[in-house]
Amino acid sequence: MCGIVGYIGKREAYPIIINGLKRLEYRGYDSAGIALYDGTKIQLSKTKGKVADLEARVAEEIATNGSLGIGHTRWATHGVPNDVNSHPHYSNSGDLVIIHNGIIENYASIKKELINRGYKFNSDTDTEVLVNLIEEIKKKEGVKLGKAVQIALNQVVGAYAIAVFDKNKPDEIVVAKLGSPLAIGIGEDEFFVASDATPFIEFTNNAIYLEDEEMAIIRRGRDVKVRKIKGDNLVDPYVQELKLNIEQIEKGGYDHFMLKEIYEQPSVIKDTYRGRLLADKGIVKLGGLEDYIEKFTNANRIIIVACGTSWHAGLVAEYTFEDLARIPVEVEYASEFRYRNPIITEKDVVIAISQSGETADTLAAIKLAKEKGAFVYGVCNVVGSTISRETHSGTYTHAGPEIGVASTKAFTTQITVLTMIALRLAKAKGTISQRDYMEHLQELDAIPAKVEEALQGDDKIKEIAAKYKDASNFLYLGRGYNFPVALEGALKLKEISYIHAEGYPAAEMKHGPIALIDEQMPVVVIAVNSNHYEKVVSNIEEIKARKGKIIAVVTEGDTQVKELADYIMEVPKTPETLSPLVTTIPLQLLSYHIAVMLDKNVDQPRNLAKSVTVE
Ligand code: F6R
Repeated sequence: MCGIVGYIGKREAYPIIINGLKRLEYRGYDSAGIALYDGTKIQLSKTKGKVADLEARVAEEIATNGSLGIGHTRWATHGVPNDVNSHPHYSNSGDLVIIHNGIIENYASIKKELINRGYKFNSDTDTEVLVNLIEEIKKKEGVKLGKAVQIALNQVVGAYAIAVFDKNKPDEIVVAKLGSPLAIGIGEDEFFVASDATPFIEFTNNAIYLEDEEMAIIRRGRDVKVRKIKGDNLVDPYVQELKLNIEQIEKGGYDHFMLKEIYEQPSVIKDTYRGRLLADKGIVKLGGLEDYIEKFTNANRIIIVACGTSWHAGLVAEYTFEDLARIPVEVEYASEFRYRNPIITEKDVVIAISQSGETADTLAAIKLAKEKGAFVYGVCNVVGSTISRETHSGTYTHAGPEIGVASTKAFTTQITVLTMIALRLAKAKGTISQRDYMEHLQELDAIPAKVEEALQGDDKIKEIAAKYKDASNFLYLGRGYNFPVALEGALKLKEISYIHAEGYPAAEMKHGPIALIDEQMPVVVIAVNSNHYEKVVSNIEEIKARKGKIIAVVTEGDTQVKELADYIMEVPKTPETLSPLVTTIPLQLLSYHIAVMLDKNVDQPRNLAKSVTVE
């Protein structure tokens, strides 16, 4: 939550920071702000609203020259989103200016003390407290900015990625990290700071990802000195070579990132298994897994921890792991797991699933599992993310940057990875016949083409969207492997269209939700060929009997459900174990089109952020 960007070097900082903020807007878009050093003073402008609103305000308010600057796009935690609470924040003297992603939990007591010492506060934010604490230490102890930041951070409790500079020393930016991500781009005589590498990818491929409890002093035209926040040890930072390219973070002709990402699924699913799945040779090989196969096969159980869409991918994996590899699985909301005093032993394997690799609750669940001795395996999309570094081992999904706040390609690539893990373990345990194993590999290899085919139903889905866009409620039903898909379909609809939607196991309908059904209620039913097909057909009959409107996801060529449904969305025939990879496609498109027709902000739905780094 919140995106931060900074620049110090030889170019004009403003365009770099503004473009960087646009790329980081997925992290929060309640307000935005920028501070530039123009050679003599700080030029600061900030506003409630999006980066586009900031640009308009900057044009009216400030000069944009200068080669040092910081910028922020906010997802509000402390203080309502308004101009005053927006970042950057000045210290009382006006010398220091700061941006912050995270939360300072003990800000209230520090604020009280600072008020007693005569400090005044304009905003309700914890961040303004931090910058004044740094100022107070700097004055009182007579130390330089870097040292003052270090002392201050040793007094605060919470999470942060910060960047701060002093107008009296406009040749350095001080940054620090604990719990929120921070990357430093290393150019030639220039440095970039950002929450992820997207703001500087066209300028450099070299980046340092700060570890937790590290800070850096970035000196113009000179160097980056990284040190521990606790103690005085200098750190020799690892400069990583980035694989990202600029095309991956642009819309590429699509109206929205979400639509682009939905359409990317055939290729990113392939990217995810490329080199790891050799269907003809009967090989599934995941680098991070091979050394730990026995950890999994000897485990008492696998516990999957995740949030949101990633949790839904975990639910699909529960079916796959139990079905194919015969290992008991529990799927937990990371936020509940971490506070439940769960029973975890050294014989448990924990899989943490996270697109961003930064989700605070998932991270806390990992730390807890590690403390209790469990082996923790990560399934992350963002390379170098905190979760990917905190886990003992793991597999990356290769979905590329997911910028639309509603997760789409991350979900299908997570399922791809988890299915490969299940197949590898099933093979190792001998719980799958050779024939079944080979068939699964071939079928997984055929998924990109099937997803491509499912995408061809887009125009028809648009018609269905037009028909039901004004409904106030939706119900989504599925069974077995497609129960989590129903949950995911409902989540997609509510988060981008703000229509209330619930996902249910189809058979549970009669235990309550059936009371909601009348002629106003569209019910999306996943009714593809499966062991439960006939039972799902009976559920559809029950809905029809109560005049509910049926939109069914069916296997191509289906006739039975077609007779009963008001609308059908066809997908190619796929084995049940892999069916979520195709049945989820029409549901993503349906929610996308409804949201567009309702004129909602598809890529940046209200109140949400892409990377939830607060609990
Ligand atoms: C839904 C969505 C969220 C995330 C959740 C977990 O479309 O994007 O529900 O899935 O916040 O995020 P990650 O996977 O980054 O841990």
